[in-house]
Amino acid sequence: MQNVIKVSKDLYYLGGNDRRLALFESAFPVPRGVSYNSYLLTDEKTVLFDTVDSAVCDLFLENLEAALAGRPLDYFVIHHMEPDHSASVMRLIEKYPEATVVTNRKVEGMLKNYFPFPSERIHLVAEGDTMSVGRRSVTFVFAPMVHWPEVMMSYIPEDGILFSADAFGTFGALSGAIFADQVQFERDFLDDARRYYFNIVGKYGVQVQSVLKKAAGLDLRLVCPLHGPVWRENFSFLLKKYDLWSKYLPEEKGVAVFYASVYGHTMNAAEILAGAIAKQGVFVKVYDVSHTHVSELLSEAFRYSHAVFCSTTYNNGIFITMEDFLRDLKAHNYQNRKYAIVENGSWSPQAGAYMQAELAAMKNLTQIGEKVTLLSAVKEDSAAALTALADEIAKDVNS
Ligand code: FEO
Repeated sequence: MQNVIKVSKDLYYLGGNDRRLALFESAFPVPRGVSYNSYLLTDEKTVLFDTVDSAVCDLFLENLEAALAGRPLDYFVIHHMEPDHSASVMRLIEKYPEATVVTNRKVEGMLKNYFPFPSERIHLVAEGDTMSVGRRSVTFVFAPMVHWPEVMMSYIPEDGILFSADAFGTFGALSGAIFADQVQFERDFLDDARRYYFNIVGKYGVQVQSVLKKAAGLDLRLVCPLHGPVWRENFSFLLKKYDLWSKYLPEEKGVAVFYASVYGHTMNAAEILAGAIAKQGVFVKVYDVSHTHVSELLSEAFRYSHAVFCSTTYNNGIFITMEDFLRDLKAHNYQNRKYAIVENGSWSPQAGAYMQAELAAMKNLTQIGEKVTLLSAVKEDSAAALTALADEIAKDVNS
């Protein structure tokens, strides 16, 4: 049975939720599920904006048929070819043979890579092109690398509607309410939105900035992303977050302490350090990198102004999960932060030097204090060194 939701005059939400998916993109846990959004505009012409993941394709096709209410589908706009939005493309064009596929040349190439796609169905558009669909028009705004090279967005100037592709999306299924102003977004979605941003498009801050500059010139009254809630009020809240995130600037002053510990001694050092930081009124959060998923570690590292990396030495190097985490930070352009190092080793502590080398290869990171070295358990001298390091970190956060 269809479940079509009206978004605004002549605009309908046709998407669905997947709450059974374990890993989005086979990489990111989505314990609160994820939504795949698709929209239909019913002007003098009917225009479909994107399809959905195969998990919700049947529902989507029912929704589309119901929303069309017997009308033909005139245009089908493809913004992004990642299969969470394009997996249903062939079923769609076979069901609606009259529909013209409106997209760009890069999408066309990818369509043919994925499917035996008929070229004669495609109408190519370029950046800034406008297509009349009746009382309204659709303008195409290219957004390369947000999050793939072929990505574009569509803008309807008459209603101030932006179909923003992956941008401004979030993990988390929609629970009946599809608008951000119907949910407590900051409480219930912001952490997932941040984790989505940094893991999915965080590497492409420069390209996101370029899109934000284009968006700044638009009258935005309704923002319709491909995942998560639709924005019709207070969109500046998320826009400001995107501006900070894409400039790689900290969202909050505070310290994220990340530790990798095998038998608990490095954890003990991390807890002592965190306690000494907190005692000085500075916000601090502690993460076991072997327990917390790396997608959350990455998001939290970008969230705060300061980080501490604590690792035991393992196979004469960095402990496995910390090494993975540091590699992920580098891959996502971690930068503009202050950090400190704590290392442990029962006979030859070396993790610190290796962690420093990894962090030195990243952009604009500044080390605070000297690295603290433990030989197995924390003792009086290392506890004093941790307290001294905490003082330096707290002073820097408060400066
Ligand atoms: Fe939601 Fe890049 O796909």
